[in-house]
Amino acid sequence: MIEFLLNNKIVRLADIDPNTTVLEYLRDQQRVGTKEGCASGDCGACTVVTAELDTQQQLSYKNINACITFIGAMHGKQLITIEDLKSGNNLHSTQLAMVDTDGSQCGFCTPGFVMSLFSLQKHQKTYDRATVQQSLAGNLCRCTGYKAIDNAAQQALTCPASDQFDAAKEQTKQSLKQISSNSEACPSIGKNNNICHLPQDAQSLADLLIQYPQCTLVAGSTDLAIEVTQNAKEFNHLISTAYVSELKQTTITEQQISIGAAVTLNQCQHLLHQPFPDFASLLERFASLQVRNQGTLAGNIANASPIGDTPPALIALNAHMILRCANTQRSELVEDFVVDYRKTTLASSEFIEKIVIPIPQHDFHFKIYKVSKRLDDDISAICVANYLCLDAAGKVSEIRLAYGGMAAIAKRAVQTEAALLGKTWNEANIEAALLKLSDDFQPLSDFRASNQYRMLCAQNLLRKFFYETPHSSEMTDNTHLATDIGGKMNMRISDYV
Ligand SMILES: Cc1cc2nc3c(=O)[nH]c(=O)nc-3n(C[C@H](O)[C@H](O)[C@H](O)COP(=O)(O)OP(=O)(O)OC[C@H]3O[C@@H](n4cnc5c(N)ncnc54)[C@H](O)[C@@H]3O)c2cc1C
Ligand code: FES
Ligand code: FES
Repeated sequence: MIEFLLNNKIVRLADIDPNTTVLEYLRDQQRVGTKEGCASGDCGACTVVTAELDTQQQLSYKNINACITFIGAMHGKQLITIEDLKSGNNLHSTQLAMVDTDGSQCGFCTPGFVMSLFSLQKHQKTYDRATVQQSLAGNLCRCTGYKAIDNAAQQALTCPASDQFDAAKEQTKQSLKQISSNSEACPSIGKNNNICHLPQDAQSLADLLIQYPQCTLVAGSTDLAIEVTQNAKEFNHLISTAYVSELKQTTITEQQISIGAAVTLNQCQHLLHQPFPDFASLLERFASLQVRNQGTLAGNIANASPIGDTPPALIALNAHMILRCANTQRSELVEDFVVDYRKTTLASSEFIEKIVIPIPQHDFHFKIYKVSKRLDDDISAICVANYLCLDAAGKVSEIRLAYGGMAAIAKRAVQTEAALLGKTWNEANIEAALLKLSDDFQPLSDFRASNQYRMLCAQNLLRKFFYETPHSSEMTDNTHLATDIGGKMNMRISDYV
């Protein structure tokens, strides 16, 4: 049985198909204010907010896409929908702001925008445009225009009054603590021969995987739920990693950052800001805040997509994972984990426990370039992560150039790297080395980019990396370098309006 607060009422569910999304559940309950637009996490019409207790036992609010979140993920949380925002006859300040600034026309997107604004308001009480753009990047509007919605954000974030959720904070915390202490050791839900287990510790997860080797692991479900909503797939047996306490942990030492497999991408973004600001910037452009609030780094590696954004960065940083089967652990480089298109070395009953990123103990240069048609909430056409160390003489002492979108798996340009290792980091050597990229890769053409575009982009991004790192100025002539590497790519949606 799972237990959660639907606004302030306790809901207990046991007899429910675990393939049910939160959106389906809400609409079945006649909570139809939450809309279905795309059912694939792209439009934000289904945005709802969850509140859960963080490590300091404070309420942490998150906007998520109800359409790609399985109902099991609500266990132990407060689920807040658009219907809950009004207090008596009074609109919530975020709703009022949308009315006052004419932020809505057809209104289909509006509940989603309001819920994202509500979640933002719980984190931030002052307006700043960049944060608003980040927070609303997962909400699309086709009628109103973003200016009016931005004005609504400005109104909602300027001196917001406290609301009924603030007033009921202590009571909500108490109820969530009560749910947590009542919780079974391994809650489960099931119907129609489909079941989901929610183990709370790593040993139970390991045992369940031995008992049910055919099951499907689910973390944030931002990939898996798409299979259900877009491909009509049904998972018979899901086992969630989201409640496993060890997998939710992170540790940082001077030598390394260790990230548990259930840590969300949004948490990773804060964690990685130091010492890898480019990694944090990449995550800012990873999907939308709704997806990053649910999705995990482990899920992004395990789904083995050739266009996953984080594998190139992790490969370039020489990251490894701790994998566990029963009571046996092994370590594997992220670079060696994916062996072919969507094929990994993960054995039956094995799972990713954590991802470990070493922190270089010497000077290094690390840059990531993501090229996509739109700046926010878009999948890469190509994503490149470059790691470089230079010796005192300006020669390349260590180099890892990792590419996504250039082959069936994310991988290093080993021949290009070999052409640069030990050489002076200058333009002549870069120009010679980048010809090797066509020995390393024969990219495909698809609707995101042609093979010629990908190759040209890869070459220009290596040049860009060169110009953005300290280098010998001998023979430097950058007149041929396209300043807008991505051409019409990397546009922010609000740039079009
Ligand atoms: C709208 C939208 C936009 C997106 N944009 C991007 C983007 O910009 N860049 C990008 O790279 N991706 C993007 N994605 C894809 C997705 O969000 C990521 O791949 C995400 O990191 C998946 O994590 P998850 O926790 O949701 O995985 P889930 O969907 O829960 O699982 C994904 C896979 O990982 C496996 N898995 C999960 N945890 C473990 C574990 N501990 N051990 C072993 N296997 C495990 C699951 O069995 C499954 O096969 C987007 C998705 C959506 C819906
Ligand atoms: S319905 Fe479009 S994001 Fe959920
Ligand atoms: S008001 Fe119509 S989609 Fe936004």
